[in-house]
Amino acid sequence: MAADRTLRVAQRQPLAFHAACPHGLEEALATELRALGASVVPARGGVGFEGDLALAYRANLRSRIASRILLRLARAPCRDEDELYRIANAIDWTAWFGPGQTLRVDVTGSRSPLRSLNFATLRIKDAVVDLVRERTGDRPSIDTRRPDVRVFAHLDEREASVYLDLSGEPLFKRGWRQRDDKGEAPLKENLAAGLLALAGWQPGLPLLDPFCGSGTILVEAAQIARGIAPGLSRRFGFERLLRFDEALWADLRAQAQREMQAARETRPSISGSDIDPAAIEQARINARRAGLGDDAIALRVADCRTLEPPGDTPGMIVCNPPYGERIDVADGDYDATMLALGRALKTGFGGWEAWVLSGDRTLPRRLRIREKRKFPLYNGPIDCRLFGFALFEPGARVK
Ligand SMILES: C[S@@+](CC[C@H](N)C(=O)[O-])C[C@H]1O[C@@H](n2cnc3c(N)ncnc32)[C@H](O)[C@@H]1O
Repeated sequence: MAADRTLRVAQRQPLAFHAACPHGLEEALATELRALGASVVPARGGVGFEGDLALAYRANLRSRIASRILLRLARAPCRDEDELYRIANAIDWTAWFGPGQTLRVDVTGSRSPLRSLNFATLRIKDAVVDLVRERTGDRPSIDTRRPDVRVFAHLDEREASVYLDLSGEPLFKRGWRQRDDKGEAPLKENLAAGLLALAGWQPGLPLLDPFCGSGTILVEAAQIARGIAPGLSRRFGFERLLRFDEALWADLRAQAQREMQAARETRPSISGSDIDPAAIEQARINARRAGLGDDAIALRVADCRTLEPPGDTPGMIVCNPPYGERIDVADGDYDATMLALGRALKTGFGGWEAWVLSGDRTLPRRLRIREKRKFPLYNGPIDCRLFGFALFEPGARVK
């Protein structure tokens, strides 16, 4: 059968994948994927890598920074919609899904000569549906809300790349956040993990988030410290594809479970505070839902203006304070709050590092502390900076 043949070919290495991520985290994602054994090529908004399906399953299960893992099924020169149709129609889709499954197609473009991305989407959809009908006598239907299978395409000035999605729901959805937990502008989980990676936080170093909100940064850190793979409590798109390798997937999950048990004993010093008691309660609920015991994160209500370190050992602050645009400081006076926070950091946190994500480029001036590093990052559509500050105290600097 043609499907068997394609699958055998697909299982032979190397397959080409694209891991998408928020802009600014490409290098951090590349490092993460290298640690999983992938050979990588960072690109804008993601990382290309090669390997077998097992590697793609592992990347879905273990990557904290990727938004999605895509399998590239075609890449070819493309100048118009007819060429695009031919490229998509030449892929053996029936090796991956059947007519009983629902489908969604998404197309992105940068400097593409094609006139309309909507029309390009339609042409790819037609190409896929025509091929499946030709092969099976039946056609898959379209479901844009909860599709079984997602097809992505990216068009640049010369080429079209067509991908099959392996993730399903985006990977920042770890499966622990409740639907009604909107928090006050919670970070996406993969951005929170990216902040920890750029800051260079490692388990064992005390971590404090003084604007913890629903606790996203703290939950990511505590899961890292406890060896909990981010994808252990969710499903993935590849589980719905034909000839999904169930035994392989069970092995990979079992291995991740074993690592989690082995890391259970660590006592990480991870703490967070927020001025809003409801946020602290939500963070507590989220930590439990994320598989963390009540001792994994120390949480308390506190005002950043009178912030004090949680212990004697210097560590690292990682946070995203409000900055006016999306969400305001508690009493509405942003300038005075940042000035007071700066003072609290300088007087009480000698030897600590502070990493602060903000859409406010003037933040260092407001805190009256000069940054030692800054990384450009997008929080959704908002152009942000992650500022790194070294808070000095003779003889007690964080290495
Ligand atoms: C942008 S949100 C942080 C979101 C969080 N990272 C998350 O993922 O849920 C900013 C938080 O700062 C808190 N906040 C505002 N003013 C504060 C203050 N003076 N001291 C401490 N927290 C404050 C808000 O209650 C809010 O939860």
